[in-house]
Amino acid sequence: MSVHIGAKSGEVADKILLPGDPLRAKYIAETFLENPQCYNEVRGMLGFTGTYKGQRVSVQGTGMGMPSAAIYANELIREYGVKKLIRVGTCGGIKSDVHVRDLVLAQAAATNSAIIRHDFPKHDFPQIADFDLLYKAFNIAKEQGFTVHVGNVLSDDVFYKDDLTDTFRLGEHGVLAVEMEAAVLYYLGAKYGVQALALMTVSDHLVTGEETTAEERQTTFDEMMIVGLETLIA
Ligand code: HPA
Repeated sequence: MSVHIGAKSGEVADKILLPGDPLRAKYIAETFLENPQCYNEVRGMLGFTGTYKGQRVSVQGTGMGMPSAAIYANELIREYGVKKLIRVGTCGGIKSDVHVRDLVLAQAAATNSAIIRHDFPKHDFPQIADFDLLYKAFNIAKEQGFTVHVGNVLSDDVFYKDDLTDTFRLGEHGVLAVEMEAAVLYYLGAKYGVQALALMTVSDHLVTGEETTAEERQTTFDEMMIVGLETLIA
């Protein structure tokens, strides 16, 4: 096992979906995977391996925010040999033409986190998606009838902010949405030479106040999961 993951060597597949919520990991495993086996319960951060259309796939909760997501991604990549990582989650729209239930593919992620700056204090290191995964996910999402936006997201360190001025300004500069994990996932993908992508559905809009109901979130989430799984095995 690694420090935070109780799986034995070989129990984690080399392709993985990463929802923030561990109960979402359980739901995905039980709903979409055949023969899912739970490999981790440490800290309640559930992880499962099963098969999807005959290929081994894992799904692991990461918790919220970059420090937590980075712990799981580091251990999955370095200790368990994971090669394809797709974050699946929600984001808040900030660009005006992004609407709730749309799909956002993070082509790149801006961030106000210092997590990458610790390694590269004198450089702006662009955090970009793996192009192969991005291209596949885009086509699969289009085929499925999603309204898809591809572009920059903001990976924010702070959910409850006193001042959203800069967030809104980023929206005016074309940043599609705000979430809390993509940048570090992309950074670790680059650092360790593995493929990473973040795909999110828009759960709310910070500027317009548009919101989704719990039922709409569930339906959209299920549809997004198919995009994530099909991209992993494509
Ligand atoms: N901030 C960060 N992450 C989010 C948000 C938000 O407003 N909405 C959905 N995910």
